[in-house]
Amino acid sequence: MSGAAVRRVSGTAAVLCGLGTWLPPHAVTNDDLARELDTSDAWIRSRTGIGTRFIAAPSTATSDLAVEAGRRALKSAEADSVDAVVLATTTPDHPCPATAPLVAAQLGLGTVPAFDVGAVCTGFLYALATGAGLIATGTAGSVLVIGADTYSRILDPADRSTRAIFGDGAGAVVLRSGGADEPGALGPPVLGSDGTGSDLITVRSGGSREPLHTTGPIGTGDGGDAGDTNDAGDAPQPDPYFRMAGKAVFRNAVERMADASLTAARRAGWEVADIDRLVAHQANLRILHAVADRMRLPRHRCPVHLDQVGNTAAASIPLALSHAAATGRLTPGHRTLLTAFGGGLTWGACALRWPALTPM
Ligand code: UT7
Repeated sequence: MSGAAVRRVSGTAAVLCGLGTWLPPHAVTNDDLARELDTSDAWIRSRTGIGTRFIAAPSTATSDLAVEAGRRALKSAEADSVDAVVLATTTPDHPCPATAPLVAAQLGLGTVPAFDVGAVCTGFLYALATGAGLIATGTAGSVLVIGADTYSRILDPADRSTRAIFGDGAGAVVLRSGGADEPGALGPPVLGSDGTGSDLITVRSGGSREPLHTTGPIGTGDGGDAGDTNDAGDAPQPDPYFRMAGKAVFRNAVERMADASLTAARRAGWEVADIDRLVAHQANLRILHAVADRMRLPRHRCPVHLDQVGNTAAASIPLALSHAAATGRLTPGHRTLLTAFGGGLTWGACALRWPALTPM
């Protein structure tokens, strides 16, 4: 590392100036899954486009992945300090406290503000928008934005539809204050949510609605009989696993990502023909194609990375950016849209001209 702070240019735009990623070393192929579950390489490839995913070792938590990606993003930005850390994750190390302060401490970033953002697979874009907001308000001159998830910890070992899709990983970018016309400057983020669809992607138990412990809530005067929902007799079995209504999520993902992308492009003053790259949340190859088709964007302008890493949730956009840049699919000056969709339901999109940087 250079020992330098992030170079800042006066201005209130957030400029992406560093990119780092990290994957755990253990790869799980479709054939590996087929030895355990009633599935096949042919089914997974044809229905999702996924070939491999990476799974964290039992001793590796989300913060470990986040620290590695964050360290690489700082190196890519040639900096060793930032003014804030925003971490998007659905799989924090613990329910409490947030994971970001631990990551900031392990990166040697001192006492900077650090907090988690929860927007499931849209988390990275929500964190990016939050980081841009910290810069716009003058709260921070530079922000480390990380997306990191270890979905392997929340998947039902017997659920072939989610096990086929999700993998672990982390990606991070550094934002600095700068001018809106600079390469890397983020356009106004487009964000949305629809809580009427909150049941489509869930981890039902383990929160305040359905705690995993069985002692019952305190302060109710009866040692556990707080009402109807947790009565020992008729309460449903706790379900600590990630559940997804695949088909409904698929349909929503296509519509929301396409529409948010078109809005972000319009706000950037771009026609569809101007969009060089649409770097979308890597959920399913059929979703990527359907989003491109709905936008009337040639499919080849959507870089694909899920074949190698699966759906890495909050990490998927920075991982896809890094892979596209490393393979020459994304080059400086490209008019680039980022888009994602996830549980909540949540979605988002953001425009930028790709800057000259070296992903680490
Ligand atoms: O990251 C957040 C956003 N996430 C997404 O956007 C994911 C969106 N959804 C999807 O990608 C797809 O819905 C899935 C890949 C999850 C499932 O594909 P699908 O084509 O929608 O399949 P399905 O859920 O309708 O299931 C069709 C059949 C079912 O069997 P039956 O009931 O017809 O006998 C499933 O049990 O395919 C079966 N199936 C599998 N078969 C072999 C589901 N997963 C598998 C599997 N291997 N891994």
